[in-house]
Amino acid sequence: MTGTRAPDAVAPRRTDSPEATERLGEAFAAHLAVGDLVVLTGPLGAGKTRLVAGLARGLGARGRVRSPSFTLLHEYAGTLPLFHADLYRLETREVDALGLDEALERGALVVEWGERLPGASLGDALTITFTIDGEHARGLSANATGPRGAELLTAWRALP
Ligand SMILES: Nc1ncnc2c1ncn2[C@@H]1O[C@H](COP(=O)(O)OP(=O)(O)OP(=O)(O)O)[C@@H](O)[C@H]1O
Ligand SMILES: [Mg+2]
Repeated sequence: MTGTRAPDAVAPRRTDSPEATERLGEAFAAHLAVGDLVVLTGPLGAGKTRLVAGLARGLGARGRVRSPSFTLLHEYAGTLPLFHADLYRLETREVDALGLDEALERGALVVEWGERLPGASLGDALTITFTIDGEHARGLSANATGPRGAELLTAWRALP
């Protein structure tokens, strides 16, 4: 058979600056709704936090976006609450204590190193996988699980 292609076989989106990655997040933010989970995965320094900064800006949140450290779960107040977690340094039991389910009841949730989430929470999500392709070059490939994940993937692919 010819012409079959896995749904995630679309070429990654490329950005060539931190600002370009932020702009992608800013444009995508308009598609987020309460209960949405966006998982960000990829190496240190790949640009995950820059994408979150764009999401927060797109939702009209003010203030700086940094990787959560002492505060394990940040909340940015915008047109919709955006919650931001980073699981890089966390043990499983600490992840359980973050209250991510409650966050999803109140807003959208974006999780760096989100592949460390318990499997069940990944059942309906958009996952963006970053690659570092050069000093300022990054690749962002998106994958969906579940019905809402699929909707978010469609929105992601339609971004300018
Ligand atoms: N195209 C690009 N997109 C995003 N960041 C870029 C790009 N080009 C260069 N950078 C730089 O890469 C770094 C990305 O840092 P960022 O904190 O967003 O990474 P991260 O994936 O969140 O890492 P960590 O896993 O440590 O949290 C920044 O210093 C940024 O200026
Ligand atoms: Mg980060």
